Amino acid sequence: MSGRNISIYPGSFDPLTNGHLDLIERGAKLFDQLIVAILRNEGKTSLFTADERKEMLCASVKHLANVSVESFDGLLVRFAAEKGARVILRGIRAVSDYEFELQMALMNRKLQPELETVFMLPGEAYSYVSSRLVKEIYRLGGDVSDLVPPIVVERLKAKGSI
Ligand code: PNS
Repeated sequence: MSGRNISIYPGSFDPLTNGHLDLIERGAKLFDQLIVAILRNEGKTSLFTADERKEMLCASVKHLANVSVESFDGLLVRFAAEKGARVILRGIRAVSDYEFELQMALMNRKLQPELETVFMLPGEAYSYVSSRLVKEIYRLGGDVSDLVPPIVVERLKAKGSI
């Protein structure tokens, strides 16, 4: 394992929100390298393909020199080991996130005891923002431009009605 502190920030990012971006910016200050890892989950129905999600993420993090974007399939702990990461970074917005996150963190620890999960809080302004709600609001004709980066607004518009 390298001496550099590499962290993985995994998620579906369907699509990336300003809350995700806020957490990435915070994480980039704490770790030598932060890898944003997009779950390809081709089986699950996602609005954007993994490649589309990656494009939007790359465009939105290009100002952060120590952040890279990759996609992965299969077990997260396996991907983290391949990358030499010591940490999985996850955001917790509210108590309601905690139960699922706890279960996932403990399961990942059971699978790979060396890997630590670190939880961070996004800025309060983003505590109610989720990809699911962004899609719902957009689908119903609401304005999501304060909730997601500009490229996501563009790509949503390019899809037309969703
Ligand atoms: O943004 P999400 O959808 O909450 O992210 C969930 C994610 C991608 C972190 C989780 O589903 C995951 O790690 N999937 C990869 C498969 C895996 O390792 N599953 C066991 C998790 S304990």
